[in-house]
Amino acid sequence: MPSAPVPPPVPWWKGAAIYQLYVRSFADGNGDGIGDLAGVRAHLPYLAALGIDAIWFNPWYPSPMADAGYDISDYRSIDPVFGTLADADALIAEAHAHGIRIIVDVVPNHGSDQHPWFLAALAAGPGSAERSRFWFRPGRGVNGSLPPNNWQSIFGGPAWTRVTEADGSPGEWYLHLFAPEQPDFNWASPDVRLEFEDVLRFWFARGVDGIRIDSAALLCKDASLPDVTGTEPPGPAHPYTDRDDVHLIYQSWRAIADSFAGRMLIGEIWLPDAARLARYVGPGELHTVFNFPYLNCAWDAGALRAVIDQTLALSSGAPATWVLSNHDVDRVVSRYGRADTSFDLERRPYFHAFPVDLPLGTRRARAAALLTMALPGSVYIYQGEELGLWEVQDIPDELRQDPIWARTHGADPGRDGCRVPLPWSGMEPPFGFSPPDAAAAPWLPQPKDWRDLTVSASSGNPDSMLTLYRDALRIRRSSPELGDGPMTWQPTPDGVLAFDRAPLGQGTGGLRCVANLSAAPVALPANAVVLLSSGPLSGGLLPPDTTAWLRMS
Ligand code: GLC
Ligand code: CA
Repeated sequence: MPSAPVPPPVPWWKGAAIYQLYVRSFADGNGDGIGDLAGVRAHLPYLAALGIDAIWFNPWYPSPMADAGYDISDYRSIDPVFGTLADADALIAEAHAHGIRIIVDVVPNHGSDQHPWFLAALAAGPGSAERSRFWFRPGRGVNGSLPPNNWQSIFGGPAWTRVTEADGSPGEWYLHLFAPEQPDFNWASPDVRLEFEDVLRFWFARGVDGIRIDSAALLCKDASLPDVTGTEPPGPAHPYTDRDDVHLIYQSWRAIADSFAGRMLIGEIWLPDAARLARYVGPGELHTVFNFPYLNCAWDAGALRAVIDQTLALSSGAPATWVLSNHDVDRVVSRYGRADTSFDLERRPYFHAFPVDLPLGTRRARAAALLTMALPGSVYIYQGEELGLWEVQDIPDELRQDPIWARTHGADPGRDGCRVPLPWSGMEPPFGFSPPDAAAAPWLPQPKDWRDLTVSASSGNPDSMLTLYRDALRIRRSSPELGDGPMTWQPTPDGVLAFDRAPLGQGTGGLRCVANLSAAPVALPANAVVLLSSGPLSGGLLPPDTTAWLRMS
């Protein structure tokens, strides 16, 4: 008898739980108030016990830190404030020994104004090959004193800055979609393409398992640099968003990733249009993209169901990702505690004007965590989400670091509130983030009330967010139904979401997730054992803003 064909192994990233680690705010090993790789290495057992499959590191490269490391001056090394390349090698090896894979952040849209290429471009002058790697243009108006076009920086202010030429005269302008310290690369330049292909190979060869591609839809620009109407932040119709030529880049990146076994590419793409998002995960392109429509969605059963359906329908065979928070958006506990529970990073001041009901937001964030971790695909957990940290909205102005704050002249508070260093232990700041003899305070101040949310206070507390995340991740890992695979919606009353996860071809049994987003308690099915719930049941009923995982018989 011929033996049955062996099914191909499921790639690890299809159903992985991936922890987003913002190094600057995770753990400070040397006491300078800034997180570092030594701090990460010391806490790897914490991450292993949490039950995650991979870590995505925000940029750890040498950087003047004009945008917290998203302004890179050397793509092949580690910033001294975080450690050394040898530390990164050791960290990768130690993580692998724990069964944890590593994803690094690559920023191809722009570099730092201290990158050797930009310094060479400044020195070489107009018309040089060095300048063709960026977007240098003469200005408009009398003596070229006006920017080449009317594009606005995503961080506020014009997207162009004028340089002084070597002879001291006012010179050309260069394009920066973000801060002036982040000049945009010109992806029509073969140098740029070859350089980044080499950067990819460099990190894959060091054992990195995946790459997160920053601002992935912005790389290619209409070379005629046309004016746009209005000064609004870039919508999908913008001459630098989501252009056809960007897909050619990712096709060659995919070929590189595939030439190293098991490597993965995920794109950061803020397109609201699911069909255009889906193009990036078409055949031969990126493996996955972040699901920001899900992140931005209100805590509302109908709206969430629509996003979930769209995600699954349009992913053309590519696995879905689910994400509730990251280092650019308000923390989920705060978002769900406002009267408007949706989010949009272009309207942060509007959201910050609402009062926050923290107990309500926390209850909903717990329910959302179980909903999210039950959906088919991979899930991203932003550090501190597992502790139930809230958005710190009252950072004193003089301590704010995000360039968005300064560039909008304080109109937009920026992203510091979700980047505050983690509380590990103890009753007061720095809550074990830095060693006891630290020379400096944490780079952003921690709220005193986080004493109740430290890792030590949360561990062993059955009601803590940490216990919920640990339990959920443990069950998710040990249940073949969860992660990658099919799901089937179940009929429910209004405001309730319920779906079954069963391995393909297995009709019965399986796992059901029921999320109650309505105002009234709902009954649970009779043929079910509750595996985990985000809050206590009351008289066998699932209360509002609560999710349960059920084993069906
Ligand atoms: C991405 C990053 C963000 C950064 C920006 C510019 O959106 O997530 O943190 O500021 O790109 O690199
Ligand atoms: Ca440090």
